[in-house]
Amino acid sequence: MTRPTFRERVQEADRVVVLTGAGVSAESGVPTFRGAGGLWRRYRAEDLATPEAFARDPRLVWEWYAWRRELIAARRPNAAHDAIAALETHARGFLLVTQNVDGLHRRAGSVRMVELHGSLWRVRCLAEEVVTENLEVPLPALPPRCACGALLRPDVVWFGEALPTEAIRQAFDAAESCEVMLVAGTSALVQPAASLPMIAKAHGAYVVEVNLEPTALSDLADESHHGKAGDVLPRLLGPLAHPRGLPPDL
Ligand code: OAD
Repeated sequence: MTRPTFRERVQEADRVVVLTGAGVSAESGVPTFRGAGGLWRRYRAEDLATPEAFARDPRLVWEWYAWRRELIAARRPNAAHDAIAALETHARGFLLVTQNVDGLHRRAGSVRMVELHGSLWRVRCLAEEVVTENLEVPLPALPPRCACGALLRPDVVWFGEALPTEAIRQAFDAAESCEVMLVAGTSALVQPAASLPMIAKAHGAYVVEVNLEPTALSDLADESHHGKAGDVLPRLLGPLAHPRGLPPDL
């Protein structure tokens, strides 16, 4: 008996999970965090992505986030985001779990998703804790302030902070119950996201990795495909990389 292919497994699965990291946005021109050209090679996380850094110098922290918002606003989702958005239209149970804060999955049309590390496109009032969408580019003043007068912060997870409770619960539930997990463009080094493929595997899921290079996950994965996500995902998914109902050439 031949083993089912990845596509057949996806088509037969009741639950499919996709976990993504910065590598899926690399071909859109958004810098990753680690590796050549990575943000953490050029900037110190302690200066820019911690509550202490924000308390010390909110303007400096906001300049860095405003720069990233401007850079991303000028970029487009790429073939990897498109393939993942299309895959969702074929799967019965589906959840995209992304570590990315750039919003490109949403712009590509992904709907059933959780943003584990928050979003650059939401702000949170330090006094009222109210979260609002904010798409303004450029921001008129730095640091931005709430109508109540308090400082606004980016609604992202900083080092030393807990992940949003509901997002992490959904991600862990989905990892435990999925039959197929596709992991794309993450170094799989940052917890707790990095443990999701291990949880899926321990619960019997078929785990497929797509990355430019071997990662901490490659030995555990049932299949590891090395190359650019924007090339590999459409090839791997074939017809599933085109939204259901639309012919592939549209
Ligand atoms: P990393 O920068 O750690 O890893 C990016 C991964 O993408 C690497 O394994 C690359 O080999 C791979 N990669 C790069 N370009 C690719 C391409 N075109 N196609 C496929 N793979 C490619 O990014 P993350 O794993 O997302 O957290 O990092 C996780 C978290 O660390 C981030 O969410 C961020 C960071 O600190 C917070 O800010 C809370």
